[in-house]
Amino acid sequence: MVKICCIGAGYVGGPTMAVIAIKCPAIEVVVVDISKPRIDAWNSDTLPIYEPGLDDVVKACRGKNLFFSTDVEKHVAEADIIFVSVNTPTKTRGLGAGKAADLTYWESAARMIADVSKSDKIVVEKSTVPVKTAEAIEKILTHNSKGINYQILSNPEFLAEGTAIEDLFKPDRVLIGGRETPGGQKAVQALKEVYAHWVPEENIITTNLWSAELSKLAANAFLAQRISSVNAMSALCEATGANVSEVSYAIGKDSRIGPKFLNASVGFGGSCFQKDILNLVYICECNGLPEVANYWKQVIKINDYQKSRFVNRVVSSMFNTVSGKKIAVLGFAFKKDTGDTRETPAIDVCKGLVGDKAQVSIYDPQVTEDQIQRDLAMNKVSVVWDAYEAAKGAHGVCILTEWDEFKKLDYQKIFDNMQKPAFVFDGRNVVDAEKLREIGFIVYSIGKPLDGWLKDMPAVA
Ligand code: NAI
Repeated sequence: MVKICCIGAGYVGGPTMAVIAIKCPAIEVVVVDISKPRIDAWNSDTLPIYEPGLDDVVKACRGKNLFFSTDVEKHVAEADIIFVSVNTPTKTRGLGAGKAADLTYWESAARMIADVSKSDKIVVEKSTVPVKTAEAIEKILTHNSKGINYQILSNPEFLAEGTAIEDLFKPDRVLIGGRETPGGQKAVQALKEVYAHWVPEENIITTNLWSAELSKLAANAFLAQRISSVNAMSALCEATGANVSEVSYAIGKDSRIGPKFLNASVGFGGSCFQKDILNLVYICECNGLPEVANYWKQVIKINDYQKSRFVNRVVSSMFNTVSGKKIAVLGFAFKKDTGDTRETPAIDVCKGLVGDKAQVSIYDPQVTEDQIQRDLAMNKVSVVWDAYEAAKGAHGVCILTEWDEFKKLDYQKIFDNMQKPAFVFDGRNVVDAEKLREIGFIVYSIGKPLDGWLKDMPAVA
């Protein structure tokens, strides 16, 4: 029986291993983490992350061939294949602060593997890491190898939060990078056999190590770039009377462009896009490529611009001040169907509104009050468990996550209980703006022709 151990029971480690376990009943999968509360939650009825379909998969194999444990060293020692799926955040201090990936967690995982291993191991980079990380990991593992053979593979994860289980069941592709030596190729083959249990052979791509590592950073940069491109267009649409949805549809019909990832919004969020692009920028700079670095940096600058443009629009529409006014924020997660708030645009928007002294009342179907208060730290906001409660007595409503339930709200009821004039600022273009206007709302939709009211207000940055 092949034994797999995954270090890191987070958004990637948990769902990825649960899917391997359900698809490969003959493989024993143990997910380990240093965080006891996280492991306890994985072993309970309330999993630590919300992801559609995840509960069913975990319940089907937990206790059979899927286990969650804090006994990191024991399970690493026993495993044949070790996935490392620890967090790789942006460095906050020291060399490369604000850009480079912080590999502290990765390095300590690698050192621990080297310390406890007694048999040959395949070590798989599941975390997103800078290109060339495998070289450093190899040095750590083999420095004191006691004759043990280590093969390092890069197997970046392309799942998207909110659709993780769907993505893992039917991945567009699985990417495996390895050394071009007989040992490296044998390890690639061993990992390929795991995925081949459910992924068609033609969708499993094998490359050299550096291509696999770089492809993950490149994929995130390209995806984020599409969002920033359409968001840049949305500003021009508002200035000219064009409609960004019509423009997106028209350009997406071109098969060379395609229709996906072309929705204008208040900006992208999530733990990966910003961190991975900053990392890419840093790698370009370190390789003496400042032009390339600046090109990708612009994707983040447009995202920051889009968030502040939204706040400015809210403030300028409401007579240039929101001081003392109640603003309801619907949605705090960085996208629908997840409770994850890492880098969510809602953080910057709420901080901007509180900075202008608004009284912000937040509702999100999945994010806890504790999490929101932690994310907003010194900014005083209230958190409620109902969209109608959030909007009661408010001057304006800001929709910041595209939760399906926001499309179905009783906007007449919301309007009746709001101050007038009542505003809706739709940061995700989810509501039917015309219907809301019939009710009496003044509506701002990103990248759409502006209401007469908004046109008359001073231009925004
Ligand atoms: P996460 O923060 O949810 O999980 C990481 C886990 O690793 C934490 O529970 C932490 O306690 C644990 N950990 C850290 N050091 C450890 C150690 N030495 N031993 C044992 N456990 C340790 O992070 P997430 O979101 O799962 O991301 C993991 C990696 O996957 C990152 O590199 C990320 O960039 C990448 N990734 C994330 C995606 C996402 O949608 N969240 C998608 C694709 C890749």
